[in-house]
Amino acid sequence: MFRSSNDDFGKREIKNLILAINMAMTLDGKVARPDGKWYGLSSREDKKKMDLIRSQYEALILGKNSIINDDPVIHLRYVSGKEPTPVLLIRKGIIPKTKKVFLHTKKKPILFCSKINEQEILSELNELADIYVLNSFEPKNILSKLNDLGFEKILLEGGPSLNDVFFKEDLIQRIHLTIVPYLIGQNSIPSIANGEKSYLDFDKKKWSLTNLEKIEDEIFLTYDL
Ligand SMILES: NC(=O)c1ccc[n+]([C@@H]2O[C@H](COP(=O)([O-])OP(=O)(O)OC[C@H]3O[C@@H](n4cnc5c(N)ncnc54)[C@H](OP(=O)(O)O)[C@@H]3O)[C@@H](O)[C@H]2O)c1
Repeated sequence: MFRSSNDDFGKREIKNLILAINMAMTLDGKVARPDGKWYGLSSREDKKKMDLIRSQYEALILGKNSIINDDPVIHLRYVSGKEPTPVLLIRKGIIPKTKKVFLHTKKKPILFCSKINEQEILSELNELADIYVLNSFEPKNILSKLNDLGFEKILLEGGPSLNDVFFKEDLIQRIHLTIVPYLIGQNSIPSIANGEKSYLDFDKKKWSLTNLEKIEDEIFLTYDL
């Protein structure tokens, strides 16, 4: 369903918002395999943790490339908590309507598109998502819009490109991170945040380790700012 084309939200205060990211990485900090996808490297335990984490948030932002490459399972399989509403950010082009995010989630996804792909998105995905046209994909604008829609606890499961955009703006307060027991090598494979520039004052902002759990060969970490 098409809802709105007004997105002048960027200047407004964002109220009570918590933004966290949730990622798994190898021992050498990689978040994708050499084929650009993430599969087969995290255990069932990680998937359970992922569900548990997701159930603590109201909205779940997903990267466009991640959906196209991985077609991730979004609905909760291992816990019976509340499912977050998937949020899809598609500035140009489209995501096929056969992706799991449209087929299996209890909550209808929210889809932010732009003027460039509005028509394409509306004609293909109108029944499958609540669609909003944004004038700006600046991360603050996206969060303001979500805040305006009533979301306060938001989980971001990038890709690394999308994560970087939010890290760069200092908008992330919590990191849920799973370390999986593999080494990939290959320097071109990204870490949890993949941008061109280092973050301003990164050495003055120390993250606090607020939870640590080891299960078999994986480590589950939570860091807070
Ligand atoms: N290990 C893990 O936990 C984990 C989790 C998630 C993903 N991954 C891996 O990460 C890979 C994909 O990561 P990725 O970095 O290539 O892509 P991504 O972060 O999934 O998606 C990036 C795309 O999002 C769109 N986008 C929408 N709004 C944006 C904004 N404000 N700023 C920047 N981009 C915006 C852009 O596409 P348009 O401009 O074309 O719209 C951009 O190219 C996957 O293949 C997956 O294997 C791993």
